[in-house]
Amino acid sequence: MATRASGSRNTTSSSDADRISSVLSEKRRFAPPAAFSAAAHVGSARALSALRAAASANVVAFWEEKARDLLWFRHWKKPLVWKHPHAQWFVGGTTNASVNCLDRHLGGWRRTKAALIWEGEMGEVRTLTYQQLHGQVCKAANALLKLGVQRGDVVAIYMGMVPETVIAMLACARIGATHNVIFGGFSSEAVRERINDSGAVVLITQDATVRRGSFVELKSAADAAVKKCPTIRHMVVLSRCGIHCTMKRGRDLWWHDVVDGASPINEPAQLDAEHPLFILYTSGSTGKPKGILHTTGGYLTQVAYTTRMVFDLQEDDVYFCTADVGWITGHSYVVYGPLMNGATVMIYEGVPNYPAPDRMWDIIERHAVSIFYTAPTAIRSFMKWGEEWPNRHDLSSLRLLGTVGEPINPEAWMWYHSVIGGGRCPIVDTWWQTETGAIMISPLPGATTTTPGTATKPLPGIEVDVVRKDGTPCKSNEGGLLVVKHPWPSMLRTIYGNDERYRAAYWSEFPKSRNHPGWYFTGDGARRDADGNIWIIGRVDDVVNVSGHRLGTAEIESALVSHPRVAEAAVVARPDEVKGNALVAFVTLKGSAKASTALSEELRAHVAKEIGPIAKPEEIRFAEALPKTRSGKIMRRLLRELVTSGTAKGDVTTLEDAGVLERLRMQEEE
Ligand code: WTA
Repeated sequence: MATRASGSRNTTSSSDADRISSVLSEKRRFAPPAAFSAAAHVGSARALSALRAAASANVVAFWEEKARDLLWFRHWKKPLVWKHPHAQWFVGGTTNASVNCLDRHLGGWRRTKAALIWEGEMGEVRTLTYQQLHGQVCKAANALLKLGVQRGDVVAIYMGMVPETVIAMLACARIGATHNVIFGGFSSEAVRERINDSGAVVLITQDATVRRGSFVELKSAADAAVKKCPTIRHMVVLSRCGIHCTMKRGRDLWWHDVVDGASPINEPAQLDAEHPLFILYTSGSTGKPKGILHTTGGYLTQVAYTTRMVFDLQEDDVYFCTADVGWITGHSYVVYGPLMNGATVMIYEGVPNYPAPDRMWDIIERHAVSIFYTAPTAIRSFMKWGEEWPNRHDLSSLRLLGTVGEPINPEAWMWYHSVIGGGRCPIVDTWWQTETGAIMISPLPGATTTTPGTATKPLPGIEVDVVRKDGTPCKSNEGGLLVVKHPWPSMLRTIYGNDERYRAAYWSEFPKSRNHPGWYFTGDGARRDADGNIWIIGRVDDVVNVSGHRLGTAEIESALVSHPRVAEAAVVARPDEVKGNALVAFVTLKGSAKASTALSEELRAHVAKEIGPIAKPEEIRFAEALPKTRSGKIMRRLLRELVTSGTAKGDVTTLEDAGVLERLRMQEEE
């Protein structure tokens, strides 16, 4: 399969938007195994090219055809209404996400098929068939209605990885409430901000979640959060761990009290295609997280289609995506995509190295998982723990592997391919974003010859390009900016409550002009090689990718500055073998405060408290001053260079005081 195994790697990347360069050269090629192609939905490169060409010829007609695979109460009148920069898809149609995930499978034998196989960290296993999941969702939907939740209300969900999280999401979708899932690893401050920005009326949470053999309390964090959340009327609390919780009378209710006794019959709401399905917060380049708003018909259409094609889903697959439902990957490829396709979805509650570093491989073996979708950062951890762990297990049930979240380095790709995939499983490297809602660039496993490190080409129906700042197309291998040129069904509709920011963040870089109708800017730098494969170079704004999660450096900086001793902070990333990036915070202290290891630990803990442990800087460097432009902007570019290469040789002409940089450089050499 491998035609040449001599990939040479030499990467340099600059995050300067107009001078992105990358000289990665990777020569290995992996064609899909013939047996895989023979049984696949799309089985050859030629078939894929034909599909892509037909879709390009009429993008809207292509997606209209895919939308017909959903169940609609009423057919749409117009497939796309585009008023720059706002899209509406399948206008006039009515549908329901929970009906598409559940009810549609109840008419035949899938009724008794496992929809969810859940494994708790402590080893318990629960299986819910489509029929059972449907019953639970209807009960939860009725419970929410009884609590007064109405169509269009926002419901916040702050939970761990348990079946009830999926049930809660689908129950919201069923009655037309918009869910706002908040990652269970976030702190109460982060929860509060996300509840208040969305105006949620109910918060669904659990007593505690299980992590590395102990309980992490969520209800108490939720209590702290909602102290200043005036819109919250009720909290519904799942008893996952059986621990004591303080329940506020009239406000707090146990899940088992409101859901278990509710009726399992619920008439689904007939919702407009553009009805808001969910808000999901993601980091932006300014301090405040952005509430990415997704709607119903278009989102479901693209998510269902991409799940089927990219994972080449077959009826007997056991599909395991390791993402937490608190992230977009969990929404699209743990919940909506696989369930719409009637798949069996494996869900695991805990950490991958508990009780031992072979937990994932153990799960794959015991449940005969056939599709495994994870992040490069996880793969690098698996590599570090050693191949003896996967080697203890029979992984022959696997037939397809996937990655998402950041560029995968060729070493990790090769390890994944040979150690986990046994050299026989195609790897789909999928590029997309919270904003895109669904996969945009990816191989199709039966059709695409892959190369480690590239997500290859856009899927049929998706028009992307790599362009210069002035909008002209880049030549092959010239670094540029990744844009999407045609509206796509699962695109974000706006930033909740802040349409201006939506326009500024995504549509101001390439505004409507004489030459084009306005393009969506992804925030990513990329290049296209001579074969047309797209290589992602990284973010060009002040957003960094740590362990596959997007973090806005500004958000972390504002957390640091909220500490009483900190005067100013600048956060930058340096490459890290496991996490992809590690955060380094440069901090200047207020007058009398003294730098110390204890303070550095205190600041790291402070960030964990304000945002969550994922945002904790790896390193705190105390500085007398930060390098700034004459207009007072911190020059993060220089700090980035400093932590990456130990020097800062870039353009320093705009620097206000060159001595500042000199002192930081000397500190580096110490
Ligand atoms: C990065 C995750 C390279 C990229 C679904 C993007 C990737 C950001 C890939 C979105 C990939 C995601 N190769 N880079 N296969 N997938 N990214 O919103 O920078 O958490 O803009 O969505 O992750 O991160 P988000």
